[in-house]
Formats: sequence, structure tokens, C-alpha cells
Amino acid sequence: MIICKSADEIRLMQKAAEIVVEVLLQLEKILKPGVQTSFLDKVAEELVYKNGAVPAFKGYVGKLNSRPYPATICVSVNEEVVHGIPGKRVIKDGDLVAIDVGVKYKGFFGDAARSFKVGNVGKTAERLYIATQDALNASIDKCLVGNRLSDLSHAIESRAKKDNFSVVKVFVGHGIGKKMHEDPQILNYGNPGQGPVLKRGMVLAIEPMLNAGTSDVEILDDKWTVITADRKLSCHFEDTVAITDEGPLILTRI
Ligand code: MF3
Ligand code: CO
Repeated sequence: MIICKSADEIRLMQKAAEIVVEVLLQLEKILKPGVQTSFLDKVAEELVYKNGAVPAFKGYVGKLNSRPYPATICVSVNEEVVHGIPGKRVIKDGDLVAIDVGVKYKGFFGDAARSFKVGNVGKTAERLYIATQDALNASIDKCLVGNRLSDLSHAIESRAKKDNFSVVKVFVGHGIGKKMHEDPQILNYGNPGQGPVLKRGMVLAIEPMLNAGTSDVEILDDKWTVITADRKLSCHFEDTVAITDEGPLILTRI
């Protein structure tokens, strides 16, 4: 069941989303070669609490495994797709780094991810970065009352295909509200014109994951970090978007 939010609830979700954006902007500033991913997590966690919010991912128990997620953010570097656990890994020049942040504020969740190019990245990374950002924007453009959910999915896959990139199939976007993961699941591929009709008040966390090579992924022994099966590059962007009569309202952009 897809839960529609009132205008007041969307205003609260906007606050949660703003905290997410503030964290991402702060992390972008300190994301440099030599920084340890655990340091990014520490900065993020402090900032979340300073804003009166709570990290959404920390302690989260997924469907795939029973190990609670141990950190505030996900940092997924190069061949890592999503859910990279911050730790001893040190960022290098040329890395493509996806940072995912989720918070709970006054009972509502906000969730967003950005990929960042550190220093001089290669040509493929540049193209993958643009394609993933474009794919997210193309799907947001479809967030109109009366459209169907798979219109978003199709927009993502079409943009990926244009550059011969693949989309990850086993992880999806999601509805978001008083829970981080609500219905519906948003596939990053598929034919248009299928699935639920979009209604005013739906709030969706749309998260394309594009791979330079195969769409197949593996999960590391840490039980969380998802990597590409061929170890080629992956890129991830995510925004929390409300469907309104006036069109898409991107809560996680200021
Ligand atoms: N944005 C991701 C998601 O919506 C991040 C989740 S990390 C987790 O699934 F640890 F909370 F699972
Ligand atoms: Co999400």
C-alpha cells in the first residue's frame, strides 16, 4: 500500500531532507585524496545529531542479512555499488565516490545519495557520472500525477542504455515517509506504462545505480558492501521526491 502524505507532512519531510542535503554538502567539502571514509562518517554523524535528527541507516536490519548496518552513511568507491561501510579505506585521486545519507527527523525520513569525482577521474567515470545524474533527472521528470510508476524505471534504463551502461537490478528505489522503506519498490529498468498510477502526496526515493560493465553484483564478506561482479565502475545518485499537483518537488535539493 502506497501511503500518500499531506501538505503538512511533506513540509516535515522537507526538513528531514534539508538535513540530508546539509550533510552531503559538508562531506563534499572534506572529500579529498587522503581522507579516510570513517572520518566522513564521523563528521556526518555529528552533523545529523547537531540538527536534532537521528541517522536512519545505523542499526538498520536489511532483508538480505541480519547484521545491523554499522554506520551513519554509506561510502561506495569505484567498483562498490551501494552500502559501502565507512572504515579504513582512504580516498585516492581519481576515485568515483558515492555517499548515501539517511536521517529521521520528527518522525519522518529523508534519503539521498550523490556521487563525487575526486580529482582527475577517467573518461568512463565522467560518462558514467553524467549518465547516472541524467537518469535520475529523467525519472524525476516523470514524477507527474497520472503517470505510471514504471515510467520512472523506463526513463532510468533508457538513459543508461544510451551510453551502453547497465543498471543494477537487485536493488531498487522506494517509497519513503514514516518508514525509510515504504511501498512502492522502484525498479531501475522496465517498460513504461505499468504499475501504480502516481498520485499527489506520494513521496519516492529514486535511486539509479548504473554500472560501466555487467549489471551483476556481489556482496562482500562484511555482509553489506555491494560490488560489481566484474569490478568495473558503478555510480549512484538518489533524491527524495514528492509528487504534487504542481509537478515533482525534489525535497533533497535546495
Ligand atoms: N539509500 C539506501 C536505501 O534506501 C541506503 C540504505 S543503507 C541501510 O536502501 F543500511 F540502511 F540499508
Ligand atoms: Co534509499
